[in-house]
Amino acid sequence: MQHFISVDQLKPKEIYGIIETAEQFRHKNLKLNDQLFAANLFFESSTRTKMSFVVAQRKLGFEVLDFHKASSSTNKGETLYDTAKTFEAIGANLLVVRHQDDDWFKALMDHISIPMINGGAGKVEHPTQCMLDMLTIYQEYGTLKDLNIAIVGDIKHSRVARSNVNALKKMGANVYLCAAPGFEDMTIQAPYITIDKAVKICDVIMLLRIQHERHEAQLETTENYLYNYGLTKEREKRMKKDAIILHPAPINRDVEIDTDLVECERSRIFKQMNNGVYVRMAIMTELLQEWGIINENSIEKHKNVITYQRTKSV
Ligand code: CP
Repeated sequence: MQHFISVDQLKPKEIYGIIETAEQFRHKNLKLNDQLFAANLFFESSTRTKMSFVVAQRKLGFEVLDFHKASSSTNKGETLYDTAKTFEAIGANLLVVRHQDDDWFKALMDHISIPMINGGAGKVEHPTQCMLDMLTIYQEYGTLKDLNIAIVGDIKHSRVARSNVNALKKMGANVYLCAAPGFEDMTIQAPYITIDKAVKICDVIMLLRIQHERHEAQLETTENYLYNYGLTKEREKRMKKDAIILHPAPINRDVEIDTDLVECERSRIFKQMNNGVYVRMAIMTELLQEWGIINENSIEKHKNVITYQRTKSV
């Protein structure tokens, strides 16, 4: 792949390849020998994605260029295109971009001569989140095939939902959607079920935040939202025995999920964040190798390999 823009561009074998490489990075301490520069161009707010990219880059030995939208020349009218071209010109070897436009990458893809990674595009794509979600599910079940997975919440405004529906279906999972009135998106090809049916049949309940910042009109989210559409403690009790809870975060506690469930035994929410570091290390090294920027000899091995073992096999 030239740039990592969407999980749609990956075949199932390539997705499993990234999952396996991410697990190797968890257990091996690998650093790049060469001096390489990475820049994270975040035009939208982020805590997890941006900071886990920074941790992943520093673990690999990158010099991380410090870009902050608020103090950048974008305030003087510079475009995303010219900002990216500037980083390329000054010697960045890799760019991560998050932008509010659904298709920010279209204007850049054929004109930027260093690998780019999509750190979130408007409401359509969040491919590195999708990869870490799949890694988290794979760690649990040893497969993605034939699992029942419900994506629950503000489907209409969620880039996580779009990336995950396509990718999980491609991997053979049965994907269901649950949404309150006004939060559905009929352009996404997956059946809608109620949250009560989802907790009964699903192996994974993936909750989504209500994305108020993307709503064109004020959609009502009453205090009954949790009771009617969210994961309450009562619904958690009705989940399948080994079923798990995911959420990309940030979390609206007591809106889409009861606060007491955020760190409950079934929750893998903080595990997802931890997995984000290793998935992003895997994606970055994969791209750098494909571009010929690094090769086997560029990677210094500090510790012995520890074989990855699945936590559960099915
Ligand atoms: N999950 C996620 O994308 O979180 P941030 O917006 O904090 O990066």
